[in-house]
Amino acid sequence: MYKYLLLIFIILIIVFVSWGLFKRKQGVCPFCIIKQFIFRSKITMNIPKGEFYQGGDAKTPPMGWSSWNTFRNHIDEKLIEETADALVSTGLADAGYKYVNLDDCWHSSLRDENGRLQGDLVRFASGIDTLSSKIRSKGLKIGLYSSNGDFTCEDLPASLGNEKTDAATFVDWGVEYFKYDFCHNIKIPSAAPLISAIEIKNGDNVTVIPADKAKLSGLAKLDENKKFPGKYYISLLGHGKGSAVFEYESDSDSECDVTLCIRKTGRFEKYIVIQNNSEYYELFIPCTKIWTVDGRYQTKINVKKGKNELRFFNPVCTRADSAYIQYKRMGEALRKASDGKITYSICEWGRNKPKDWAWNTGNLWRISGDIIPNWRWINHIYNMNLKLGEFAGPGHWNDPDMLEVGNGKLTYDENKTHFSLWCMMASPLILGNDLRKLPDEKNTLEIISNKKMIAINQDKLGHQCIRYKKNLTFDYLFKKLENGKFAICIYNKSAKKKTVDFDFSGVPAEFKPDATNLYEVWSNKAIRVNDKITIDAHGCVVITDL
Ligand code: GAL
Repeated sequence: MYKYLLLIFIILIIVFVSWGLFKRKQGVCPFCIIKQFIFRSKITMNIPKGEFYQGGDAKTPPMGWSSWNTFRNHIDEKLIEETADALVSTGLADAGYKYVNLDDCWHSSLRDENGRLQGDLVRFASGIDTLSSKIRSKGLKIGLYSSNGDFTCEDLPASLGNEKTDAATFVDWGVEYFKYDFCHNIKIPSAAPLISAIEIKNGDNVTVIPADKAKLSGLAKLDENKKFPGKYYISLLGHGKGSAVFEYESDSDSECDVTLCIRKTGRFEKYIVIQNNSEYYELFIPCTKIWTVDGRYQTKINVKKGKNELRFFNPVCTRADSAYIQYKRMGEALRKASDGKITYSICEWGRNKPKDWAWNTGNLWRISGDIIPNWRWINHIYNMNLKLGEFAGPGHWNDPDMLEVGNGKLTYDENKTHFSLWCMMASPLILGNDLRKLPDEKNTLEIISNKKMIAINQDKLGHQCIRYKKNLTFDYLFKKLENGKFAICIYNKSAKKKTVDFDFSGVPAEFKPDATNLYEVWSNKAIRVNDKITIDAHGCVVITDL
């Protein structure tokens, strides 16, 4: 027995080491990949609390439809147009579902001659622009998808490094919702270059400021170049540990060319941010062969008339810091290009604790891996999301992923509960089913178009429900609504029909629910305190005075 275990252990070690060596050859650190899947990364940068993303139309949770959950990579313009028609004919558009979101695989593997993304040349032959016009002519809005990497999850061209071009393309097409995934992401290096001087060309004047004139802080330090005594360079600017400030006096407000003069070291990529006034400029220094020891890297920056303080630093310690900077870069590109009209959905599956930063960079952020129409998994995502209520509010929402109502083998009660929980949690309501089949799927249509449930979800206070009481069978949720109104959801987690006595015990005193005019949303029947309610397996009741 032990012999076999030992053999399996040795085989596993061999497989792991070979895989590690193979990955290393590809320039990827195998241990980092494993670490990334086991541990969530945490942001070390200081994101000021209350500074929310200033773009998007998400004062209430966004509502719409996305192609991914049902159609995956099999989408084309006919399907999208039929879906848009179905949204209108079923009354779902009037109920609030406005976005028609094309998820992965809408685009060609070929950027056009100007480096712009374009629709799949066969499946979206008329072009995304034309499709977008058709969708918008029906009173709907179009959403698109890309990844914060060099490819999407389905290995098509993505937007990392192309943020401004792609944001401008989306705006030209009238896109109003944008989902940004995390596949093929490349972490920003934490290392910073060694700076020996900066040169600023302003008009015809060139000002050279050597390293020893900079003001250093944190761990940043000045080292003498041993080969050239009297010449210095600044080190230890990486990993958020230090910064160097170069003062520059300008005669006018202007755009300057800044050259960063560096001393080359190490065969790895480096990164530095230049901050002047409230603007940030990024510089990537490639891996070097070190043929020569000096390097010159250039960017353009704006200076103001008078004294400017150019701060050089690299704030990236963790993958979360890197993700934050990259999501922010895209968010700002979208905001500027669209004048704040594009709703921005961040999708990094909760890997980098987005609760700590995503409200600053976008309107909604995924908190988990992909949803599937499986009750255990949906219940698990719900439990994860319940803990994050304090981070949600108008303009910035936790996203427990798109709806699976009507998909797979979920029972009627599971579909109803899934929808109710998402409404109670003020979650975005992005449908994921085939809307063209809705006339046959009466139950699904009834669930997703329940006006009261939608009103609870869309309540302007934007309160994500709290779980105020739980036992092995039931979860009790409370959602505060505008004008002192409220909604309570009692969810039967068990696999059997159960009966519960309805009362307000356990509701926190600050909510002070009013016991008059109560009714249950799904049955539309009046309810009184102390009524006995029977709830089917995995079912729920929603009681409100709305
Ligand atoms: C996943 C994402 C899904 C879907 C898919 C497309 O990363 O979580 O919602 O967008 O990529 O490839």
